[in-house]
Amino acid sequence: MLVLKNIHKEFNTTGNPEDLVVALDDVSLTIEEGEFVTIIGTNGSGKSTTMNIITGAMMPDRGQIFLNGADITHMNEHERARYYGRVFQDPMMGTATEMSVLENLEVAYRKGKVHSPFKWGFSKQEKEYFINELKKFDLGIEEKLNKKVGTMSGGQRQALTLLMATMRNLPSHNRIRKEYVYFAEGDKHKAKEEVETGYKLAKDKYLKAKLAIKNDKSLTSQQRKEQLKQAYETFDSEVRKFDVTKPILLLDEHTAALDPKTAKKVLEITDKIVHESKMTALMITHNMADALKYGNRLIMFAHGKIVLDISGEEKAKMQVNDLYNLFQVQNNIE
Ligand SMILES: Nc1ncnc2c1ncn2[C@@H]1O[C@H](COP(=O)(O)OP(=O)(O)OP(=O)(O)O)[C@@H](O)[C@H]1O
Ligand SMILES: [Mg+2]
Repeated sequence: MLVLKNIHKEFNTTGNPEDLVVALDDVSLTIEEGEFVTIIGTNGSGKSTTMNIITGAMMPDRGQIFLNGADITHMNEHERARYYGRVFQDPMMGTATEMSVLENLEVAYRKGKVHSPFKWGFSKQEKEYFINELKKFDLGIEEKLNKKVGTMSGGQRQALTLLMATMRNLPSHNRIRKEYVYFAEGDKHKAKEEVETGYKLAKDKYLKAKLAIKNDKSLTSQQRKEQLKQAYETFDSEVRKFDVTKPILLLDEHTAALDPKTAKKVLEITDKIVHESKMTALMITHNMADALKYGNRLIMFAHGKIVLDISGEEKAKMQVNDLYNLFQVQNNIE
């Protein structure tokens, strides 16, 4: 759950009182785990500022941000990065242009996975998995695995960034245990005991299994390798049950720079990824039809405030025309 509480943000680039801009005017917002929220609003209404404050790229003048109950208002952008995947409007951002598609994927995939017993680099299965994911985009990226990302089209780059942003950046076991306590509500000591006991049990079981496999003379070396890997994976998945944070996907007009056909494709893939991985997602768009079509909740910003917040049935029933009319009214457009 992500909570913005009374967030206020002003800008004044000249110092003149008349140039003061209230970008966010005491905004409060609660986003539940698994919600897919589309966000609309005129230029300058505060949409991107909201995202910047969520990621820590900007500090609010007043107000607090809570992630899963913990106050992260003062956590810096770098620290927070592991809780978010972000895709911007500009296809030039989000990927390393001088690196190949595979290298980009590898970096995103390995982020936070330093304690893995497996070597750096993709295994055959991992590579196959990514090729499969890239094929789903139907943009031919899978044929450019070793090409520099800088040579790809905007659509291809956005699709790749999306895949990288939604990849599970697996946290280490240490991090999982630490975060379990950090995000625990109520008794922190009890939470610590719970996670440490769970971790110890899983580890003891793994060490015993490892010993038994090593001592089993009937196994071929191939079988032994397989079984050791299996035993580690069981251990790993038992520890990951304590993983309390799932990345939130933040999309800031991520299809705005794409041609209509590619934009549609990238949006459909976005929707599919969000549903399949049950991610919490926030998507800013200027396209009202898309804002209604995708997601289960819709928020409209005007003049730094949330002026419409609909979900479920109410959102499903809303027509583009109704939304357009509300938009006109809220922005005093004749
Ligand atoms: N870094 C900044 N310095 C000064 N003013 C800023 C800064 N960032 C945002 N603003 C101002 O805050 C207001 C809100 O901007 P924001 O980028 O959140 O709008 P937006 O809703 O994302 O608009 P758009 O649809 O154009 O992307 C605008 O008036 C903008 O000029
Ligand atoms: Mg913006």
